[in-house]
Amino acid sequence: MAIIETFNIVKKYGDITAVDGVDLQIEPGECFGLLGPNGAGKTTLIKMITAVAPITSGQASVTELNVIHEPRAIKALIGVVPQEENLDPDFSVLKNLLVFARYFNIPAKEAKRQAIANLELFELAHRQDAKISELSGGMKRRLLIARALINQPRIIVLDEPTVGLDPQTRHMVWQKLQSLKGQGTTQLLTTQNMEEAAVLCDRLAIMNDGRIVALGVPTEMITEYGSKQIIEARADSTAKDQIREELKRRGIYWHELGETFYVFQSDSTDLDNIFGEKLNVLVQRKPTLEDVFLRLTGRALTE
Ligand SMILES: Nc1ncnc2c1ncn2[C@@H]1O[C@H](COP(=O)(O)OP(=O)(O)O)[C@@H](O)[C@H]1O
Ligand SMILES: [Mg+2]
Repeated sequence: MAIIETFNIVKKYGDITAVDGVDLQIEPGECFGLLGPNGAGKTTLIKMITAVAPITSGQASVTELNVIHEPRAIKALIGVVPQEENLDPDFSVLKNLLVFARYFNIPAKEAKRQAIANLELFELAHRQDAKISELSGGMKRRLLIARALINQPRIIVLDEPTVGLDPQTRHMVWQKLQSLKGQGTTQLLTTQNMEEAAVLCDRLAIMNDGRIVALGVPTEMITEYGSKQIIEARADSTAKDQIREELKRRGIYWHELGETFYVFQSDSTDLDNIFGEKLNVLVQRKPTLEDVFLRLTGRALTE
């Protein structure tokens, strides 16, 4: 039985269709990712699921509670890390958590114990009396996550949890999320970072223009859409048309972004032998989720 479900869910902002008919079934205990570029509709989808933005049409449920009819009950169940930092600048670090705990009617003593435990978990305990303005961007992100965990939610929804973090802090957050998953939480997260998606997510939906273009286990998606090897190459401008024709004739899939040819190689085709000097191979590498996205949409995941 799915713990989060959507049926043909749509969100329109005037003429813009931000989410265009999405069906999702997220299983208890899994980490499910929404991977897609800016504007794909990830935040809008998450806002509808968490009862923050009204649904234009379709249905969504969380633990079988209907999002449209039971928004308060759903909000009490889930921990949400929003994309935009919305900490209260008038309160200290600790007070931000304590005030937030009141929304969940957590008794004061219990709230304080939980708040301090969460600050310790995210290595913020030493800054508990600091003002929000005194925190670095990385600390604010960690505090947002610590705050989302104040009611010990079984379901955690994170909108680009590590955007803008330095690599060390990002890895720290990844570790914490993995250990929370080990404790049985269900996680729904959005990201533009394919490494994050590959590291954290059991399953992924790749989103583009408000729709899901592929859904599956990250490694299986790479096998299915990524081919054996990716070759990044540059071509002489005079040779480009000839190269395109030759690739097409041989049934080799490729895509061009800027000046670079991304050739999806499925067998041992030797490009050097085919093109010689005309094609200057820069890199040969294993495919990634970025290549899956490129193949499915013709676009780069991050611009
Ligand atoms: N409040 C809003 N009013 C109008 N358009 C919006 C609003 N929020 C999002 N959009 C539009 O909806 C689309 C999806 O946005 P968003 O859900 O934020 O995508 P993502 O989180 O994947 O970057 C974009 O075209 C965006 O400009
Ligand atoms: Mg977003």
